[in-house]
Amino acid sequence: MPHVVTIDGPSGSGKGTVASRVAARLGWRNLDSGALYRLVGLAAERAGIAPDDVPALQRLARNMDAVFRDGHVFLDNIDVTDAIRTEQAGNAASRIAAIPQVRDELLAWQRGYAREPGLIAEGRDMGTVVFPDAEVKIFLTASPRERAERRYKQLKEKGFNVTMESLLGEIAERDKRDTERAVAPLKPAVGAFILDSSGMDVDEVVERVLAHVRERLPAV
Ligand code: C5P
Repeated sequence: MPHVVTIDGPSGSGKGTVASRVAARLGWRNLDSGALYRLVGLAAERAGIAPDDVPALQRLARNMDAVFRDGHVFLDNIDVTDAIRTEQAGNAASRIAAIPQVRDELLAWQRGYAREPGLIAEGRDMGTVVFPDAEVKIFLTASPRERAERRYKQLKEKGFNVTMESLLGEIAERDKRDTERAVAPLKPAVGAFILDSSGMDVDEVVERVLAHVRERLPAV
């Protein structure tokens, strides 16, 4: 059985960067489950599917032609790596992510991503729903202001025009939707190691996560 380490947390907590760096250090695969929800959100928008058309969204999630290759994401053979990173795609993702039928369609795909020697699975419900038997579970968080500041820098670097105020508002709204939804809400898994990264730089967080993984899995 491959090792599975889950990293869950709210948007902007840095889990994407941390998960991919920890996976690279261990030589493991990295599952960015948020990208899947973003892909369904984007594909639905492009296909003109209404956010409440559950059967159509379910079909889309089941049949979506999505490929992850060399750090890029393709939808119907079109590179959507940047398109899925916008705030608009994030919000679309968070809306369709509240639909249980869509989540169910993505379950098998996510579980099938685990391969030898191991997987770092990153998202909201990796430790609670998708990989409940994972050997190591981490909940990575940071204060809303710090998360908004990190997001601001990331988006500015990519040339997006955003304000701190709008980001803080969007983060609060997304946190609320993700933590209060009925299905697979964002919360730490039982026994998760809770790491608040406020005031820490990414190198420090990566080292803390690696140290925790090695403490739990000495053979790694
Ligand atoms: O992590 P990221 O910001 O890319 O995720 C986008 C949205 O997808 C989240 O706001 C959340 O609503 C949803 N999501 C989820 N379960 C996951 C990963 C992401 O519901 N495992």
